[in-house]
Amino acid sequence: MVEDPQLTRVRVHESRIRGMFDAIAPDYDRLNHSLSFGQDVLWRIAAARRARLAAGEIGLDVGTGTGDLALTLLRRSEAGSRVVGLDLAGGMFDRSLRKAARSGLQARFEVVQGSALHIPAPDGSFDRVVSAFTLRNVADLGRAFREMRRVLRPGGRAVLLELSKPPGRLFARLYRAYFYGVLPRAAALLGGDRAAYAYLPESLTSFPDAAALAAEMRAAGFHQVRYTLLTLGIAALHEGTR
Ligand SMILES: C[S@@+](CC[C@H](N)C(=O)[O-])C[C@H]1O[C@@H](n2cnc3c(N)ncnc32)[C@H](O)[C@@H]1O
Repeated sequence: MVEDPQLTRVRVHESRIRGMFDAIAPDYDRLNHSLSFGQDVLWRIAAARRARLAAGEIGLDVGTGTGDLALTLLRRSEAGSRVVGLDLAGGMFDRSLRKAARSGLQARFEVVQGSALHIPAPDGSFDRVVSAFTLRNVADLGRAFREMRRVLRPGGRAVLLELSKPPGRLFARLYRAYFYGVLPRAAALLGGDRAAYAYLPESLTSFPDAAALAAEMRAAGFHQVRYTLLTLGIAALHEGTR
């Protein structure tokens, strides 16, 4: 039987992404914090504030990686709330489990290996869907949004953090010079995998700007879609309701 070419494309893409994140997992946190000058921590706190869970509520963190968003959210939510992390790469989420244990949050956090394009959960399972720095990596953004919406309960909200494209002309130019020129070299100097950090600017080039991303969320059926630019638009926080 011949496989659907789109399915083959997704499989190949996801296998590349999984391999890349498994390879950079040991350096991921250190490089992330240094290359963003610590801004990533503040951005996750902003996302967690917007997504705060009440007791008994459950959130899904899509592309949980080493768990920083999931654990930041749990720390800012009521006791009795829980988060499930979803990720393709075992090398990344193994670290999230260790971090959760060190923080005493292991009873409120679990991980599932799987894809954002086929979330292994029934419709309406979650009160919140959150995600940080994952959307740029998915092979089919529209499908990922439809899946996120599907697993939210009616009235549930998605709170999605991602790098974006700064709108101010001068700042955008400076930022591009850093992101495309300095960052992959700095990552290599700091001991990271140069190819993986060359992929970072590549992944943003074809990614929609904040307004276009909001339009994609609306097209996937989200309501009350809005976004906030963070640090002059280097990152953006998008929200939408099922
Ligand atoms: C840049 S890391 C972000 C990790 C974490 N959310 C954070 O805030 O640091 C992106 C993560 O998304 C995962 N990922 C990428 N594409 C995915 C997909 N289609 N389904 C599930 N996870 C995916 C990667 O394996 C990686 O762990």
